[in-house]
Amino acid sequence: MRFTDGFLSVIRDRLPLSDIVGRRVSWDRRKSRPAKGDHWACCPFHGEKTPSFHVDDRRGRYHCFGCGASGDHFRFLMEHDGMSFPEAVELLAGEAGVAMPAPDPEAERRHKEQLKLHDILELAASFYERALHSQEGQHALAYAEGRGLDSMLRATFRIGYAPDGRTRLFDFLCARDVPLADMVETGLVIVPEEGGRAPYDRFRGRLMVAIEDQRGKVVGFGGRVLGDGEPKYLNSPETELFRKREMLFNSQRARTAAHQANRLVVVEGYMDAIALHKAGVPEVTASLGTALGEDQIALIWRFNDEPIICFDGDEAGTRAAHKAIDRVLPLLKPGKSLRFLFLPAGLDPDDFIKERGKEAFVTALDGAQSLIDALWERETSGLDLGTPERIAAFQASLGRLAAGIADEAVRKLYDQALKDRFYALRRALRQAQYPGGYPGGRPGASRSGTGALGASSRVAPEPLSVERQLLALARRFPSAAQRFGDRDIASLVSTEDLARQLEIALEGPFDDRDPGSAYLDASPAGDADVAVLRQDKTDDATALDQLPFPILKREPSPRFLDTLFACLLSKLELKAVEAEANEAQRASGNDLDEATMGRLLAIQDEARTMRDQINELERALDEEAALMRGASSRAS
Ligand code: UTP
Ligand code: MN
Repeated sequence: MRFTDGFLSVIRDRLPLSDIVGRRVSWDRRKSRPAKGDHWACCPFHGEKTPSFHVDDRRGRYHCFGCGASGDHFRFLMEHDGMSFPEAVELLAGEAGVAMPAPDPEAERRHKEQLKLHDILELAASFYERALHSQEGQHALAYAEGRGLDSMLRATFRIGYAPDGRTRLFDFLCARDVPLADMVETGLVIVPEEGGRAPYDRFRGRLMVAIEDQRGKVVGFGGRVLGDGEPKYLNSPETELFRKREMLFNSQRARTAAHQANRLVVVEGYMDAIALHKAGVPEVTASLGTALGEDQIALIWRFNDEPIICFDGDEAGTRAAHKAIDRVLPLLKPGKSLRFLFLPAGLDPDDFIKERGKEAFVTALDGAQSLIDALWERETSGLDLGTPERIAAFQASLGRLAAGIADEAVRKLYDQALKDRFYALRRALRQAQYPGGYPGGRPGASRSGTGALGASSRVAPEPLSVERQLLALARRFPSAAQRFGDRDIASLVSTEDLARQLEIALEGPFDDRDPGSAYLDASPAGDADVAVLRQDKTDDATALDQLPFPILKREPSPRFLDTLFACLLSKLELKAVEAEANEAQRASGNDLDEATMGRLLAIQDEARTMRDQINELERALDEEAALMRGASSRAS
């Protein structure tokens, strides 16, 4: 059912958001100002010790400055209590004393239609259940018992038996005046394509498992052959009620259990889900043998932030998990991910529990792989980085994977994380290849590098300021500097004198063959100026020495210089942004209003992005320097 905005805002207006949220969190008394409709608490969506979760009654919105969770009344109940949207609306409409809107006739007709189909499916489920416990179901019951389906489980999962006759269910439904068209619509009865042939039951001689929707209503069935035979499972076809892409087996029970256990396990098979339920892990749903789709991922994320995908460790299971990785990557959001548990090859969860017990399974769950680990393992298994071209291809494929993530924050972090791993891997490979140190490399460089931090650890004990390095570089390599002439440097440096000198150096035009000309101002140099100039040249040499690139003494490539300039400029910009953040924070003291808070967050975000950029540039510099070293050592 669709609700109008007007209807929803009446509910929102009548119920202070803090009433709804306040039943589920405890407010921080000191930070909150209830009179102003301003409430703070520790965020119920992520673990934290100091409150950054804010509820604004006047706007009817909540927002967590820590994890970014935000929304209104309905969103809160959906995210926090795992309700569906209509359920949240119905509950709050009741609390607000607002009558639910009358359904429109078309919706009503569809609702009736669905009721009718539900009734038929319900009839069928009890028909199958009775058959299982009748004379003709004896061998099916024996099979079920043999598989550990005791009477409790049989009742819970509505296990039944489809008798082995052509029209047993059809006859049963006919006797209850169910129209043929409706039977066909449930998928339970098939009318052959060629005209004139009689309708027949889809399921015959199979053990039946009822598939229920999120409200616990039967929408379809899976029928297993008793013993060996093909196909092993026959399932209800896609119908108005049984939308396979949006469905997960056992989702109703899993939803409640997942909220209680703060865990959700996703398995492939009916029997796996039932076995886990039996073993005391009821927070389990099954994907029904199909690859996890977008809607199913959205569904499990409503139950839990990081559902654990648990597949058989054989080839098929691994393939299915890899497919799930590709499916989920574009959908990732802050806080929302998947984890992966690969069981030993040949053991599905059902077998695993039988062989090793529940405790072993739970231990395995605790050790489930994060998405990024599973992704990295997939990307690097069987990888050969023996040639530069292969390295480049591998690097490009990592870039593409990260680029596919729609959420900007997650995308950047993935990109960063994959780069970190890439460079760590390369370092490790070089280390293995040249245990004594990389030929031509900076002394000790290959040993001191530790992942992403390797780049920053190269800062010398007392570095000359970035501004000074930039100036020296601009004078030494004027034509490269001029490519950055349009950047507004003046606003970034600390003194006017430096700003002016930098502008002169960056704007040019200068003659590359005479780097000395970069020291000349428009006016002819007097004696005093010449002294300053000499001093400057010494300082420049020191500043250049401070940059950890001996290659600067020789002939750095234009690309290297561009990257180096960009990197130094970014560092200056970062300093400016950080200064701005400090200023904003200082100016507002402890009394952060929402606007300042927002601005601060934006600045911090910008700073983070710039730090990422700088890291990236520094890595590129390393790469480029290594390439040049390689080229010059080959040449000599
Ligand atoms: P499995 O073959 O792993 O089934 O297929 P299972 O649940 O472990 O069943 P048992 O233990 O052999 O009885 C996983 C799921 O794939 C779907 C079913 O949903 C099954 O539960 N499937 C499998 C089919 O739909 N048709 C098939 O022929 C086989
Ligand atoms: Mn199995």
